[in-house]
Parts: sequence; structure tokens; C-alpha cells
Amino acid sequence: MVPKLERVPTGIPGFDELCEGGLIRDRSYLVTGTSGSGKTVFAMQFLLNGIRMYNEPGIFIATEERPQHVREHFSTFGWDLEKYEDENMLAIVDATSTKIGLPTDEKYVDIRPFDTRSLIDNIITIQDEIGALRCALDSTTSIGFAVQDPAKFRVELLKISTTLEVLGLTSILTCEVIENGAINRFGVENFVTEGTIVLYYTKSENMRTRSLEIFKMRGSNHSKKTHHFVIDSNGITVHPGEEVYS
Ligand SMILES: Nc1ncnc2c1ncn2[C@@H]1O[C@H](COP(=O)(O)OP(=O)(O)OP(=O)(O)O)[C@@H](O)[C@H]1O
Ligand SMILES: [Mg+2]
Repeated sequence: MVPKLERVPTGIPGFDELCEGGLIRDRSYLVTGTSGSGKTVFAMQFLLNGIRMYNEPGIFIATEERPQHVREHFSTFGWDLEKYEDENMLAIVDATSTKIGLPTDEKYVDIRPFDTRSLIDNIITIQDEIGALRCALDSTTSIGFAVQDPAKFRVELLKISTTLEVLGLTSILTCEVIENGAINRFGVENFVTEGTIVLYYTKSENMRTRSLEIFKMRGSNHSKKTHHFVIDSNGITVHPGEEVYS
């Protein structure tokens, strides 16, 4: 019999059926896309569905947006992050404020300049407190700019993704690309993760449409097609039946 790897459903409507029921447990996945393509929504929806549907606590590491903005943005979907933080089901790490020299009174703060060891220590501390099973690092790109050298960035990312796996976290790492359809920014990110999900935000005539593609998913017989999705008041919904041809 062929062994079956345990799947972690993202709970994002229409997505899990594209990849045998979800992500493989304890692995790290890259979600890439241009600005506004939906990476942060995808990452947070994965965590919140874990909390609400599967009783799996989550860690969100915000390197580009201050946590208060993250909470405010997601309240527009009716998602009350503070409630889950109070219940110790969600931890948001502020890895933004000190980088730009602002004071912060967040509970979890990552120091700057970026240091992999300190980030990992932070995650381990949070793990002890909330026993997380899911993690989102939003985004890897700011770490790439902090590290600068792609060869070193590749090693640092490998350290981070391997630590997340060893800690029993199924993770989404986001990656900002400049060109629609590009799979990584520094040419190394997709090599150190188990899978790569590409979000497209394409303009045709006077409309932009959203679609996604599972570019790579090790150990999975995943869809090779590009599928439409929308972001509305419910967050992301993928329409697996609606293929995108061009
Ligand atoms: N409440 C909402 N209702 C409908 N659509 C929304 C809502 N909130 C955000 N969006 C859509 O989601 C987009 C933002 O998605 P998101 O923040 O995940 O992008 P991103 O890929 O993380 O971008 P960046 O790289 O700039 O961080 C917005 O530009 C908007 O089109
Ligand atoms: Mg974002």
C-alpha cells in the first residue's frame, strides 16, 4: 500500500481539493505574488481556519506591517484577531516596528537588525506558551533584503523552514515578487520550501482578475492548472472548476 502523508487542510474554500486535501503536515510552503495579489490574506486565512475549524493555534510573524494594522485590516473581513490572541490561540510577532525605529508595546517583538537565531528563539518561546501547529511568516522578502547575499539568505531560510518543521509547525512563508508569475525574489526561496503557490493578479482590458497555481508541491499529486479565485468579505474563495487559459 502506498503510504499516505498527513494533510493539513488550509480550509480556504476550493483550495484543498487541488492538492489531495491540503498541505503536508510539518512542512513549509511559499506563497508568492506581486503586491496586492493576496499573500497576506492567504496566510492569515490559513491560520484562522486552523484556529476556528481545526482547533490548531497559530503564529503570525509580521515583518512588513505593524500588528495593529494587521488586526485592523482583517477586522474588515469580520475576523477578530484580538479575540484569538486573548484565547492564546493566535500570537502575532511584531518584526516591523523596531526595524523602522518605532516603539512598540506588542507582547511578542522581534529585534532588529534581523537575526535568525533571535527569530527562532521567539518562535520557540511562543511554542511553549500556545502550542502552535501553524505558522505564517509574512514576508521572507524583508529577510532577504536584510541578509542581502542570496547564498546566505538561502541558508538562513533553510534554517528557518527546517526549525519550523522540527517544531511541528505547518507553515506559509510569503514572498513578494515584482513580476506577475515570478516564483521568487532572490532566486532561492522556492528551493528551500516543500511547495510553491503562485498568486496572479492580471489585468485584462479594464479589469484585474485573480488566479492561482500550485507551481510545486513535493509529495503531492496536485492540480497543474491555473484556477480563478476571489477576495471578498469572506476572504479568499478558489473556484477550482474555473480554469484560466491564458
Ligand atoms: N475586506 C476586504 N474585502 C474585499 N477585498 C479585500 C478586503 N481586504 C483586502 N481585500 C483585497 O485584498 C488585497 C490585499 O491583499 P493582501 O494584503 O493579501 O496582498 P499582498 O499580496 O499581501 O500584498 P503586499 O505584497 O503589498 O503585502 C487588497 O488590495 C484588496 O483588493
Ligand atoms: Mg502582504
